[in-house]
Amino acid sequence: MEFSGFDARGYRTVDVRTGYGEWVGKYEDTVEDVMDLALLERLREPEWAAVGRAADLGCGTGRTGQWLRGKGVPAIDGVDLTPEMLALARRRGAHDQLTEADVTATGLDEGAYDLVISSLVDEHLADLAPFYREAWRIAAPKAAFVLVAFHPHFIMTSGMPTHFTNDAGEPVAITTNVHLISDHVSAALAAGWRLAELHEGLIDDAWLAVKPKWERFRNHPISAAYVWRKDG
Ligand SMILES: C[S@@+](CC[C@H](N)C(=O)[O-])C[C@H]1O[C@@H](n2cnc3c(N)ncnc32)[C@H](O)[C@@H]1O
Repeated sequence: MEFSGFDARGYRTVDVRTGYGEWVGKYEDTVEDVMDLALLERLREPEWAAVGRAADLGCGTGRTGQWLRGKGVPAIDGVDLTPEMLALARRRGAHDQLTEADVTATGLDEGAYDLVISSLVDEHLADLAPFYREAWRIAAPKAAFVLVAFHPHFIMTSGMPTHFTNDAGEPVAITTNVHLISDHVSAALAAGWRLAELHEGLIDDAWLAVKPKWERFRNHPISAAYVWRKDG
């Protein structure tokens, strides 16, 4: 679904590579762990320490990769579209291989990963179907696909796209799409995935401690974490 109908900000919008290429220096100061890492902590599966090799799609600067290493995942390959984000991931050193590629055509080996993970990426994709299909292609039998997403309710109700403030002080939006939960379910089921777990992250006290001005959003869902399984 087009974001423009919900846009309450009217910021100038740039594409993913341009946006993250400019945001990169301040990205880690602005992304909040309560958005994604707190949700990952709530998952009952997969058993992180039992994962042999993970693919981190839209790995950015390597936050997710570092979190996975902390959970005992021994080998992680990352893919991202933005060279500047990959350069920071390279410096961080949480990944084994890092490749500049689209999450819908990663070039990673077929059936090679017992965990595929993607955090805070899908709102930049116009269509979820090729993304779920590519995750399925690279997933090994019985693999999990863990996807953390910006919640559609929050994008709609706040009218706020993914955005950053550039060096000139201008707020700039990065192409944002609204994917309903049913869009995720339809695309994932069509690719062959089975839903194993779904959690929604609400604006709670932990959030308000880092964003006090969001009191008006208390108890609104802002992110979601899906765990998909490849049964075959
Ligand atoms: C909000 S950041 C998330 C980075 C990291 N997963 C994290 O949690 O910090 C979104 C990342 O997705 C990447 N991205 C967006 N669309 C992409 C696409 N189609 N293919 C590959 N990477 C993409 C961007 O370059 C950016 O690094």
